[in-house]
Amino acid sequence: MTLQLSNPSLFVQQALIAGEWRDAGGGATIAVEDPATGATIGTVPDCTAQDTQAAIAAAEAAWPAWRARTAGDRAALIERWYALVMENVADLGRIMTAEQGKPIAEAEGEIRYAATFIKWFAEEGRRIDGSIVPGPEASRRILVMKQPVGVSAAITPWNFPAAMITRKCSPALAAGCPVVVKPSDLTPFTALALAKLAQDAGIPAGVINVLTGRPEAIGAALTASPVVRKLSFTGSTRVGALLMRQSADTIKRLSLELGGNAPLIVFDDADVDLAVASTMASKFRNAGQTCVCANRILVQDGVFDTFAAKLAAAVSALKVAPGDRDGATIGPLINHAAIDKVRAHVDDALSHGATIYAQAGEVASDAGADRFATPVVLTGATRDMRLADEETFGPVAPLFRFTHEAEAIELANATSYGLASYFYTENLHRAFRVAEALETGMVALNTGGIAMEMAPFGGIKQSGLGREGAHAGIEEYLETKAFHIGGLKA
Ligand code: SIN
Repeated sequence: MTLQLSNPSLFVQQALIAGEWRDAGGGATIAVEDPATGATIGTVPDCTAQDTQAAIAAAEAAWPAWRARTAGDRAALIERWYALVMENVADLGRIMTAEQGKPIAEAEGEIRYAATFIKWFAEEGRRIDGSIVPGPEASRRILVMKQPVGVSAAITPWNFPAAMITRKCSPALAAGCPVVVKPSDLTPFTALALAKLAQDAGIPAGVINVLTGRPEAIGAALTASPVVRKLSFTGSTRVGALLMRQSADTIKRLSLELGGNAPLIVFDDADVDLAVASTMASKFRNAGQTCVCANRILVQDGVFDTFAAKLAAAVSALKVAPGDRDGATIGPLINHAAIDKVRAHVDDALSHGATIYAQAGEVASDAGADRFATPVVLTGATRDMRLADEETFGPVAPLFRFTHEAEAIELANATSYGLASYFYTENLHRAFRVAEALETGMVALNTGGIAMEMAPFGGIKQSGLGREGAHAGIEEYLETKAFHIGGLKA
């Protein structure tokens, strides 16, 4: 398969270590498929533990000079990276659609979204400050300083092949930390293209390294290394827990953005049209393959029928097709395992009494129709179904009916996850009551969008640790040092 790009140099099939594009130590490669068709797009090196050591060593060597630059110098290079990403939105979007499947418009939207983190953190890097606190005696001053944590690793997922990289790497770079990035083996090309643009922007050799390949050897080497002082991971709770265990011996700082099981609650006093529009945005973005997407839709008796009918109309209008097809709004799922999980959740729900209330039309595809999941609205969802407890990660909208506010809160919180929640009401008193009661790191009232560069993103409970975006996102790459100065004379 040949990708038509205006800038063909962006399609790179090698890893980036110490500023050089390299094959894997043993020469092994892995093939990357277009999820819409199964066709091979290209291959990337299957990097080894030794390649990982080389990337860590390159980052360590680059660190002293990178941290010694002024924040303004670093910001200028990072802003140049931002400009190049924005100049190449169309090519980057094409690469992403080819390897990830999302519709072109959505892929380009993700590139622009990814770029906002680059710009934001270039600016935040100039605003790293400390403080002076009063000491216990007149002759002492205590300065609280912020310093870069050091070599940082980023392990990123396939569902947002660009934004999860820029949300981790931009604050690291702005804070003065070099990075070793391990993108998903399903979507490495977007990461390599971003790294190429970082190189073109003049970010020095060794400051950004990208290792491609299967995760086990690379993850084990990154977590075992005492040189890697910080690891940021986005992915499943199972893998997050594994990385946390593997990082224990080197006491690494961790940011973990893990699974979710977001409730979306529509109260009787909601603006139903707004609730439907933003349910569509939250639930069906990236074909439902996001950690923050609404997994359980809780609707109060009084608006249940109206909401269900309007949601059904919107879902029926979705166009399921390969991402590069005109008008596609829902692309393929990432692989067969994802399709199997979605089908298992729907079958389980049907066997426990749910009903398919509406679904999108046939898949518009000549090849690979078995790679797509039809978006469905289910009514009669109950808490004994798998989709009440597990993240479906697909285009399934199960509607749970409730009568009282307390019942909705109890159901919303009945999960080990705590990433995002959404609710719809026009009642101010209820707005505060519910926002304070929901056990999630992010709560959205009357909107389905919560991911943006200026807002802290992250979860509680088994949804993870730490925050990305906002000023909090750069703090994750900074150590706090107390500098005591004693013996000062009056
Ligand atoms: C995710 O949780 O899957 C990332 C979502 C986002 O950045 O919007």
